[in-house]
Amino acid sequence: MAGPLVLLRDLKPQVDDPRTRDLDWYVGQGGYKTAETVLKTKTPDDVIAEVKASGIRGRGGAGFPTGMKWSFVPKGDGPKYLLCNADEGEPGTFKDRLLLTQHPHQLIEGMIIAGFAFGARQGYVYIRGEFVIEAEIVRRAIAEAYAKNWLGKNLWGTGVDFDLHVYRGAGAYICGEETSLIESIEGKRGYPRLKPPFPAVYGAWGKPTVVNNVETLSAVPWILAKGGAQYAKIGTAKSAGTRLFSVSGHVNRPGVYEIPLGTPFTTILNDVCGGVSGGRKLKALITGGSSVPILTAAETEGLIFDFESPASKGTMLGSGGVIVMAEGTCMVRALMVLMRFYAHESCGQCTPCRDGTPWLANLTKMIETGQASMNEIELLMSVSKKMAGNTICPLADAAVMPAQSYATKFRDEFIAHLDGKGCPFPAWTFGEGH
Ligand SMILES: Cc1cc2nc3c(=O)[nH]c(=O)nc-3n(C[C@H](O)[C@H](O)[C@H](O)COP(=O)(O)O)c2cc1C
Ligand code: SF4
Repeated sequence: MAGPLVLLRDLKPQVDDPRTRDLDWYVGQGGYKTAETVLKTKTPDDVIAEVKASGIRGRGGAGFPTGMKWSFVPKGDGPKYLLCNADEGEPGTFKDRLLLTQHPHQLIEGMIIAGFAFGARQGYVYIRGEFVIEAEIVRRAIAEAYAKNWLGKNLWGTGVDFDLHVYRGAGAYICGEETSLIESIEGKRGYPRLKPPFPAVYGAWGKPTVVNNVETLSAVPWILAKGGAQYAKIGTAKSAGTRLFSVSGHVNRPGVYEIPLGTPFTTILNDVCGGVSGGRKLKALITGGSSVPILTAAETEGLIFDFESPASKGTMLGSGGVIVMAEGTCMVRALMVLMRFYAHESCGQCTPCRDGTPWLANLTKMIETGQASMNEIELLMSVSKKMAGNTICPLADAAVMPAQSYATKFRDEFIAHLDGKGCPFPAWTFGEGH
């Protein structure tokens, strides 16, 4: 079996080798042996205990402890569902796609073990609509596993059943939110549900359900093969394991990197990604996908990539989408692009989000194009304040956090755009630089 997740290829770029998606390759690495051993020799409680001991926290964004999530599912024989969240819609995040295309069997094995742990006999991989090739690769891998009877009925003669299906999303960011994903799988419009009740108790078709991210589930075979304690030794005491970081923006070597938690940001920026591109200085950093508060270059001083260090600076690791912005990037334009995205993706159920996100998009556009005065900056702050915490799901907060942090931390830059002046930066600065 390979190392944690893809392989513990510390600090090296991933190599794109299509053979790794084949069943033969995976079996050659010891693949599916762990699932077989687990189903034959362990109890569901043993598995949950091992995952708890590993300290792994969900890799989808919220960072909820995985073993604890599984333990919330009520015991009993009724239907239960395991849903793999492969929607990967968070701007700046593109690591699940790599797991789906290169290591689908690792995910399937993780899902067999996870289903066994809390009693799910049905699993779904919910794949974002745009991932056409990825969905085909996962479907093929599922068919290969069925052909061996490693999916289906009576796996390895243990009496355990586990069926797995692919469900294609239709291209909405909101369907990555777990309750919206559940609605979508039920064939309904992807509207997030009010919580509680939480999916562990009332999920898909009203039955106990666990939603886990692709990366979280892909880590499970290694944890069960080597033991939770071994996994907990990687990373730091409070942030166990490795994570896949999707690094984009103004760096010399963007890409997906598997890195032990606890690694300093400067190591990732300079040693792994070859530094800021064009010999420029760092201006700002997004640590965990577009929804988290931005950090200024000064705030990245001493930053460690674990769960605690970003939190101490008022942000988070989120989905592991790292976006590097160099000097010369217009922060108003960067925010304008993001606000347009959230306005487009709001599902429209809650008034503060349905009306607030277009307000934020319009206000940032007015500021960027010089059609605003101080009033519009103040309005941006007050509208976003009224949205925060007042909606069914966190999408509104995901728009508010960048809006408030950009407009506060780069206030002088916002002011420089006002009263007919417009953008002082050259056109198309955001996104260029490689
Ligand atoms: C608007 C929104 C979009 C989300 N998109 C994703 C996504 O694309 N993939 C994902 O794994 N989690 C996403 N999440 C988080 C999920 O709701 C959920 O927390 C996660 O899938 C749980 O898996 P984990 O415990 O393994 O992290 C999103 C959350 C919100 C609020
Ligand atoms: S916060 Fe926005 S996306 Fe979430 S449920 Fe409300 S309207 Fe829909």
